[in-house]
Amino acid sequence: MELALCSCPVPRLLLLLLSISAAFCLGNVVNRPVEEGKEVWDYVTVRKDAHMFWWLYYATNPCKNFSELPLVMWLQGGPGGSSTGFGNFEEIGPLDSNLQPRNTTWLQSASLLFVDNPVGTGFSYVNASDAYTKNLDMVASDMMVLLKTFFDCHREFQTIPFYIFSESYGGKMAAGIGLQLHKAIQEGSIKCNFAGVALGDSWISPIDSVLSWGPYLYSMSLLDDQGLAEVAKVAEQVLNAVNKGYYKEATQLWGEAEAVIEQNTDGVNFYNILTKNTPVPAKESSLEFTQSHLVRLFQRHVRYLHQDSLSQLMNGPIRKKLKIIPADYSWGAQATNVFMNMEGDFMKPVISIVDELLEAGVNVTVYNGQLDLIVDTIGQEAWVRKLNWPELSRFSQLKWKALYSDPKSSQTSAFVKSYKNLAFYWILGAGHMVPSDQGHMALKMMRLVTQQE
Ligand SMILES: *[C@@H]1O[C@H](CO)[C@@H](O)[C@H](O)[C@H]1NC(C)=O
Ligand SMILES: *[C@@H]1O[C@H](CO)[C@@H](O)[C@H](O)[C@H]1NC(C)=O
Ligand SMILES: *[C@@H]1O[C@H](CO)[C@@H](O)[C@H](O)[C@H]1NC(C)=O
Ligand SMILES: *[C@@H]1O[C@H](CO)[C@@H](O)[C@H](O)[C@H]1NC(C)=O
Repeated sequence: MELALCSCPVPRLLLLLLSISAAFCLGNVVNRPVEEGKEVWDYVTVRKDAHMFWWLYYATNPCKNFSELPLVMWLQGGPGGSSTGFGNFEEIGPLDSNLQPRNTTWLQSASLLFVDNPVGTGFSYVNASDAYTKNLDMVASDMMVLLKTFFDCHREFQTIPFYIFSESYGGKMAAGIGLQLHKAIQEGSIKCNFAGVALGDSWISPIDSVLSWGPYLYSMSLLDDQGLAEVAKVAEQVLNAVNKGYYKEATQLWGEAEAVIEQNTDGVNFYNILTKNTPVPAKESSLEFTQSHLVRLFQRHVRYLHQDSLSQLMNGPIRKKLKIIPADYSWGAQATNVFMNMEGDFMKPVISIVDELLEAGVNVTVYNGQLDLIVDTIGQEAWVRKLNWPELSRFSQLKWKALYSDPKSSQTSAFVKSYKNLAFYWILGAGHMVPSDQGHMALKMMRLVTQQE
């Protein structure tokens, strides 16, 4: 592992004693061998019939106590994608989905809090079908209940810098959650050292993504003039629906725009344009769905987070290890409902929330993979240009700086621009899932964002 580069003797016995003596008012504590670190997990009932699952890993760094390292919460997209499953085992956690150590785990530089949100995602569940969240406000207020419980019960984290990192729809949730958290801290209802949000390939302004798909694909030899015209036509329809505030219709047209792209590109992968879509077989349960456009959207945007191998891992050995998952709920089983219930929210932009965060002085990082189509980088640049933040013109005038994940190599890994509390990272060679595609650069970026480099 990378952390082995740093050598300082740590008294093994001392650490062991300390970790055993730690007391918690909630949670299931497991003391794994010291080099693997400590983990805690539990449910919080965030509303009537709504139960949210979280899983915390204490940082494992041979030179630093966890209390000297930040706490990072990771939010997956979808909505309906599981942080404790996909983010943990496929992206940044200590083990990969074969339960082998991950060299580029973020755990060497931060404690990691994975939360399955909105309720119904991953191991989170609802008891009643009307308990799913319908919009971003509900998603964020549920998370406030979880975070209040978490920080009240784990006081050792109240002073540690707390960052929210996210991917895709998780970025939209991170913005909404970040703003409510900032307010809760001001009001004194949550005690936490909130240090910033990082929005990865995030669904902040869906229309800016849709409008840039054509030009992006055209410039990459993935559309001809005919295809470009077809994509432009359907993108215009999405724009009209969004402008009129017809968000459900916009969601349907978004699905149509993707179908037009699929036909014209011979099935490009929306998550990495250098690869092809591998069609996922329809789940049997999809027969129940009457709204077929939502089914197609779900399969494209949430099914990839629920590959069979991951599902077997989570519903097999992981569930067995966690012990507290109710017998009648399985990992991922409610994801379709989570997704469908947010239908009216998908296409709503949250640029104004990012503005409020910037205005409030919260650090905001935007990072994006070069090869992502669904949330392409030019779409991100487009909404950033729409910010009302007074410092935007100063930000825009700056030149970017190259970054190298391997200091001994001349291979450019990323570019970055940052001014006051806004930073933008262009991650080269990565698609939608930045830490999966460029693990070393993603780790370096997290360290830069959390002021460790
Ligand atoms: C690590 O930090 C915790 C919380 O601040 C503290 O109780 C503990 O003594 C520290 N351990 C070491 C080895 O410094
Ligand atoms: C992880 O690091 C070890 C030691 O540097 C190396 O041998 C191994 O190939 C790496 N694994 C991956 C998947 O890169
Ligand atoms: C909700 O689910 C939990 C876990 O299965 C169960 O213990 C509880 O009784 C359920 N509550 C209702 C109202 O069904
Ligand atoms: C916020 O960003 C500024 C500018 O990059 C930096 O100086 C500051 O340390 C950051 N604060 C935190 C808590 O990360």
